[in-house]
Amino acid sequence: MKTTISLIKADIGSIPGHMTVHPNILDLMEEEMDRAIEEKLILDAHVFNAGDDTELLMTHTKGVDSAEIHEFAWNAFVKGADEAKEIGLYGAGQDLLADAFSGNVKGMGPGVAEMEFEERPAEPILVFAMDKTEPGAFNFPIFRIFGDPFCTAGLVIDPSMHSGFKYTVVDVKEHKKIQMGLPEEMYDLLALIGHPSRYVTKYVHSKDEKRGITAAISTEKLSLIAGKYIGKDDPVCIIRAQSGFPAVGEVLEGFSLGHIVSGWMRGSHRGPLMPVPLEYSQCTRFDGPPRVVGLGFQLKNGTLEGPVDLFDDPIFDSIRQRCADITDFLRRHGPFEPGMLPLDEMEYTTLPAVLTKLQDRLEDWE
Ligand code: F6R
Ligand code: MG
Ligand code: MG
Repeated sequence: MKTTISLIKADIGSIPGHMTVHPNILDLMEEEMDRAIEEKLILDAHVFNAGDDTELLMTHTKGVDSAEIHEFAWNAFVKGADEAKEIGLYGAGQDLLADAFSGNVKGMGPGVAEMEFEERPAEPILVFAMDKTEPGAFNFPIFRIFGDPFCTAGLVIDPSMHSGFKYTVVDVKEHKKIQMGLPEEMYDLLALIGHPSRYVTKYVHSKDEKRGITAAISTEKLSLIAGKYIGKDDPVCIIRAQSGFPAVGEVLEGFSLGHIVSGWMRGSHRGPLMPVPLEYSQCTRFDGPPRVVGLGFQLKNGTLEGPVDLFDDPIFDSIRQRCADITDFLRRHGPFEPGMLPLDEMEYTTLPAVLTKLQDRLEDWE
């Protein structure tokens, strides 16, 4: 039996402003999941939030891109958005860009990471969700986890990982994809994924066909779907760990820098990505800084045992402190780059509306 894991997320409203998800919304989503388990649509589920994003983690046997699963998630979000409107939450229904479901939730606003595989006898599953940033924010940790021997010792000393991994990268602007092998194409890969606003890591597979997929990341960009600034496309990721894949600790090591990402405050600023336990999954200072939460499970016949809150450990305190220090420094730049994003990345923010007002006053010069 092949198991599918679907992690589908949307910002359907939050409290206060864009800070965190209301407990009633999470309760409602849990009720929806329980009903779907009873009706045998899905095998298991876990509902959580990353900042203002509601995250639905589901296991089932219907494969990736299943219209049934996507429609169920869409309808759950619509119910959640109605409840959010009722309570008076901020941005209720924000990410639900379509009027009605049309076959696949991709391209309708929600973000999707999915993978299908034959379960190993013991199957560690890690899921990560970010808030106040963009899908390309996963490029850096994913590269470190699957491509950097200074992060993942197994690349050097585990014979089952020594031959490296296959990457799928998408160009989110031109809608193209490319497959590349690591380590042999590392420099070419970095030439793309070092530019995360455009080139986004979508999948990582083992080079051993039998092992199959190990990572899937959501790549939906709200602004490219809507053609204007809506909110940030806060991404999610699923990783299978251990036994020929990076160990859980090697995966977590990938998040140990607090690297600088785009999307903070009004989708227009750069900030350090702070790894936090669920308890601190709320964006506060300057609507941030950008955060990542991580949950760990063992999967057995589609049942999720867990979660373990992966960043709930004092070893991450020093990384969080560094993120706080970087936050102080970057915030002192105010509206200047690199605190604010470069002009071309501001295309889909509210800045162009301000700049248009000045167009008529611009005169020829020399
Ligand atoms: C960033 C984000 C927030 C909002 C900001 C303004 O991704 O969600 O920083 O952009 O709070 O929100 P509005 O325009 O809704 O007042
Ligand atoms: Mg929001
Ligand atoms: Mg968000």
